[in-house]
Amino acid sequence: MKENLIPKKIVEELNKYIISQEDAKRNVAISLRNRYRRKQISDIKLKNEITPKNIILIGPTGVGKTEIARRLAVLTDSPFIKVEATKYTEVGYVGKDVESMIKDLVSITFNKLKSKKIEILREKYKESIFCKVAKLIKPYDTINLNEKNTLFEEIKSGKYDLQEIEIEKHQNIDTPVVEVFATGNDSSEDGVKGIIDNIMNSFPGGKKKIVKMNVKNAIEYLLKAEIEENIDLEELKPIAIQKVQEDGIVFIDEIDKIAEREGSHNDVSRQGVQRDILPIIEGTTVMTKYGAIKTEHILFIAAGAFTQSSPSDLMAELQGRFPIKVRLNSLTKDDFVKILTKIDFNLLTQYKELLKTDNVNLSFTNGAIDEIAEVAIDLNEEIENIGARRLSGVIEKILNDIMFEAPYDKETTIKIGKKDVVKVFNYSFVEENLDDYIL
Ligand SMILES: Nc1ncnc2c1ncn2[C@@H]1O[C@H](COP(=O)(O)OP(=O)(O)OP(=O)(O)O)[C@@H](O)[C@H]1O
Ligand SMILES: [Mg+2]
Repeated sequence: MKENLIPKKIVEELNKYIISQEDAKRNVAISLRNRYRRKQISDIKLKNEITPKNIILIGPTGVGKTEIARRLAVLTDSPFIKVEATKYTEVGYVGKDVESMIKDLVSITFNKLKSKKIEILREKYKESIFCKVAKLIKPYDTINLNEKNTLFEEIKSGKYDLQEIEIEKHQNIDTPVVEVFATGNDSSEDGVKGIIDNIMNSFPGGKKKIVKMNVKNAIEYLLKAEIEENIDLEELKPIAIQKVQEDGIVFIDEIDKIAEREGSHNDVSRQGVQRDILPIIEGTTVMTKYGAIKTEHILFIAAGAFTQSSPSDLMAELQGRFPIKVRLNSLTKDDFVKILTKIDFNLLTQYKELLKTDNVNLSFTNGAIDEIAEVAIDLNEEIENIGARRLSGVIEKILNDIMFEAPYDKETTIKIGKKDVVKVFNYSFVEENLDDYIL
């Protein structure tokens, strides 16, 4: 975690995207900082005694639980994974077991490190690849330094992009390069890649072939080949392991769904999943293809609506491992207005920018914005409370005609006023067509 991420700063950053929910923002910020503080303690014995201040976020649907976690992940540079408690099954049953959340987190972290490393190597080898390509474009040794420089600049600016040149292609490079550049969540153990590697290794050096390619593709190909040859993935493994152990954050959504009251459902497997999660949160060692991971200092943030159950329905031991419980409140009309106007990249801005690409200069009056918030609150009360998720449905409905009619030949200014909103949502209409508004 970056040193400057003091709790106040974290909240300030979260404020750019999350309206209200001050308690939740404050507590995730404190938990994160406490983990950083722990790392600074020099007394190892004491340090090992300090466990993460795991949090449960409790609140109705669509009020920002997942959003807080999502923004937090971007904000801190911590390894982060969001999982749904309901996706797991008890060990021994068919399905994903809970340890896979840790394996996935390490994979994500490793792949991120790999992408970063590739970026660094790209920069490092770029010049030498330009040089290689320059030699193939012009008889390099016979031109003077000035001409060389010009040629270099021209290649960089893309002047020769479509010119064909001949390069030496190692046939065994193709597949592994693709793998090097594949990023994302790869939790499957070696599998296909291992098989391909084995086949490739049985042809040492591979076959060389001269192929024609345009300059643009040649640069990309040679760069990838060079990176493939030089990248040391082994050295990234312990770094990934350490980062996850010390800075990892696991966000467990839908935790309430595995906490249903005993007796209310005869569901043994939910209890089983809780039992399986417990050691991971208490601290255990999970074996991954990158190495062994100790989980005791990973920060767990759980979230759930807890409408059918309460946090006290979770196993007592599990409750004890989540010392901080924070309630998120339902959002008010005022909050909706702020969500529409105050947060960075808010919904209204998104629609304005989308339509701008089609020559529409869209704006909303304050009265219209107020009415949108009002309609969203009303629909939540009348149909189903889906929190802030309601807003985008309301706006879609209002802008439906405009989005269908655009593009326009000439720049067209459209101002949405309160009346336009009322017209779309006149209530006798709503009552007759309730189904249209179920999002
Ligand atoms: N407090 C808020 N501030 C800004 N935007 C919000 C807020 N709450 C919700 N939103 C918007 O609504 C969307 C849904 O919210 P989110 O995914 O956080 O719901 P949730 O609380 O996790 O609900 P669920 O229990 O259904 O998972 C977000 O993507 C965001 O755009
Ligand atoms: Mg959620």
